Amino acid sequence: MPRRAHLIAGLLAPLCIATFFLSTILTELFGSHAAVAQLKSLIVMPGLWIMVPLMAAAGGSGMFLARSRQGRLVDAKKKRMPFIAANGLLVLVPCAIVLDRWATAGTFDTAFAVVQAIELIAGATNFALMGLNVRDGLRMAGRLRTRAPVATGSS
Ligand code: HEM
Repeated sequence: MPRRAHLIAGLLAPLCIATFFLSTILTELFGSHAAVAQLKSLIVMPGLWIMVPLMAAAGGSGMFLARSRQGRLVDAKKKRMPFIAANGLLVLVPCAIVLDRWATAGTFDTAFAVVQAIELIAGATNFALMGLNVRDGLRMAGRLRTRAPVATGSS
């Protein structure tokens, strides 16, 4: 059961971040201010209420599964998790809330652009770190094979 929960949360959490990232880029490039404001509010509610529990579920169930595991892959996943959590809670969540407030008030100024850029960079970073956790997790679960060493053909 924790294994199934970890698989589901571990795939949905990065998918959630990717959805926020792509919808933000598309709406800001091609959408009206009203569309941006609507997206910003959807990212906060229900978006954050889906993303934060998914991240916590992935981390918590991962730590549970790791009790009986050792090795390089599990250590790498454990080391990444505090960065993912801090980046999510201390950067992504506050950015999303501030951007929602400003967009609702119609304030699309330089500060909005700067915070938006910070949010996109933090989102891409978390997506990459979660992607590495997915890759290592699939390897540990035996669903993804590690690449075999390439023969040099010198002998
Ligand atoms: C957001 C963070 C994380 C993501 C996205 C993630 C993702 C995944 C995925 C997709 C799998 C494959 C599951 C399967 O095929 O059944 C997996 C397996 C695993 N993960 Fe994570 N994981 C995360 C955090 C962690 C953490 C913090 C740990 C603790 C070290 C951890 C430990 C494990 C272990 C031990 C497995 C192998 C389970 C098995 O053998 O069936 N994960 N992870």
